[in-house]
Amino acid sequence: MPARPAFSPPDGFRLLPGYFSRAQQEKLIDAVFAAAETGAPFFQPRMPRTGQPLSVTMTNFGPLGWVTDRTKGYRYEPAHPETGQNWPAMPDALMTLWSEVSNYPAPPEACLVNWYRADSRMGLHVDFDEEATDAAVVSVSLGDKARFRIGGPERKGPTASMVLSSGDVVVLGGAARRSYHGVDRIYPGASTLVPGGGRINLTMRRVTIPA
Ligand code: SIN
Ligand code: FE2
Repeated sequence: MPARPAFSPPDGFRLLPGYFSRAQQEKLIDAVFAAAETGAPFFQPRMPRTGQPLSVTMTNFGPLGWVTDRTKGYRYEPAHPETGQNWPAMPDALMTLWSEVSNYPAPPEACLVNWYRADSRMGLHVDFDEEATDAAVVSVSLGDKARFRIGGPERKGPTASMVLSSGDVVVLGGAARRSYHGVDRIYPGASTLVPGGGRINLTMRRVTIPA
């Protein structure tokens, strides 16, 4: 029987390995922990209705941040759910990254910061809470490696997987913007970048349609 051809990620998917140098990665991690020590500590997100905790903890940069809890579910909010403070501004390096790779005429509004521990995962999902679906999602991997999986528009369709390393950038634009994707696993202990260990993923999005 002929082998099934390998699935290739949809158009608009880009992996830019080693986009950020070690020094740039350290600056980004410093910005995350400076934010976490002021008004934007990592919080425990929970699934809508069940209240089940996600296996990552989260914070955000930017005018809007993605949050989820049992009662109100997935949404964007201008302020931290526990401190009530506005999210800190996005680091300049992220604004520059967006202008270099998003090919979008307006700035990003949200940068979700997900901290994966050794046993964290992210189930297959489509980023669906933004109005500006024509803008790419741009993400940065920091710290431990992860196995990232991407398919197409159907949850049960074929997928491809790849290892993401610290400093890599992924762009989900075009058809890939509506593609299922997730993180199968973390390879713990491989990196010394994140204090206390693990992987931090920064996911930038345009949320509202530009005026
Ligand atoms: C996500 O799509 O929610 C996260 C992707 C990643 O952690 O690389
Ligand atoms: Fe996502």
